[in-house]
Amino acid sequence: MKVTDTIKYVGVDDTTIDLFESQYPMEEGISYNSYVILDDKIAIMDTVDRRGSEEWLKNVREVLEGRQPDYLVVDHLEPDHSGTIGALAEAYPDIKIYCSAKAKGMLPNFFDIDESRITGVAEGDTLSLGSHTLQFFMAPMVHWPEVMVTYEKSEKVLFSADGFGTFGAIQNNVPWEQEASHYYLNIVGKYGASVQALLKKAATLDIKTICPLHGPVLTGDLTPYIEKYDLWSSYKPEFHGVLVCYASVHGHTKEAALRFAEELEAAGEKVKTLDLTREHVSEAVEKCFQYDRIVLASVTYDGALFPAMEDLLYHLEIKNFQNRKFGLIENGSWGPIAAKKMREHLEAMKDITICDTVVTIKTRRKPSDQPAFEALLKEIRG
Ligand code: FEO
Repeated sequence: MKVTDTIKYVGVDDTTIDLFESQYPMEEGISYNSYVILDDKIAIMDTVDRRGSEEWLKNVREVLEGRQPDYLVVDHLEPDHSGTIGALAEAYPDIKIYCSAKAKGMLPNFFDIDESRITGVAEGDTLSLGSHTLQFFMAPMVHWPEVMVTYEKSEKVLFSADGFGTFGAIQNNVPWEQEASHYYLNIVGKYGASVQALLKKAATLDIKTICPLHGPVLTGDLTPYIEKYDLWSSYKPEFHGVLVCYASVHGHTKEAALRFAEELEAAGEKVKTLDLTREHVSEAVEKCFQYDRIVLASVTYDGALFPAMEDLLYHLEIKNFQNRKFGLIENGSWGPIAAKKMREHLEAMKDITICDTVVTIKTRRKPSDQPAFEALLKEIRG
């Protein structure tokens, strides 16, 4: 696959992986992207997960057509991209590695490669391949601390590391829009400030093509992709609407939550409901980032939150979730404490508003609970 006449895609699809990072279900698979720039000198842009080593090395050899690669540029050291560095360094003993100075310090944790083969670059450094010139820009915490992105000046291509990546094997033709928010918000979502800093640098470059480390190469009008990244990384919601997340043991909390969702809809709200005991937590995290208001309904369990709700709130906290309005509904047959526990999590997050009205139901929603639900509805809409 070619990106341009002189830049070739040599990445691999992984359609058999069950859980990416041992936590995200991959129904559509994932791609580990890698590229080769052919010029007087040849640069390979990142490697792939070791699950794809053999296929990747075959792709690289095919593109090289017997030539020797001069450089490996490592934009990101996470094993889904660095897994084959050792094999490449062994196969091509003369190849030199270019990476950030931070990555140079971290590389010995991953591979035993003679230090003389590794150059740690700094912000703005360049590497000439002939007609192509690579320029390096640091992007710390656009997922890991050692990350950099590489801009190829002559063809205006940005090799963007995890940035602008998405889930989905390339052969499955998953549209970027379909999985990109799920990918971004779960993988990079915590690092909004770092992404904002990178977007500012990118704005100074004339970019025609973005080559990420996962998912399709992006060309044409890049504005929609950049606008999405700007939105997500600034923790602004995508939709004006209410997400109702519920965690129910025997169905009573679920019934109460779904009825409240119907009441919100009847009041004219765009509403999405999500069963935390049935949906993967990464779906719930994505949806929470998308909506501007969220209602959490949880049963009390073992004197604490039901685990599915605890899990969501744990994930939101570690993702640096912020800037939203919440309503709380709790259930407990004898000692409801779920709202107190949910509040503790939410209060640890930044710029979170919690409605004063907390609805407490005892086992099931009863007519006597109606005024509290009505008060919550009014407040979440207010
Ligand atoms: Fe795709 Fe942070 O690695």
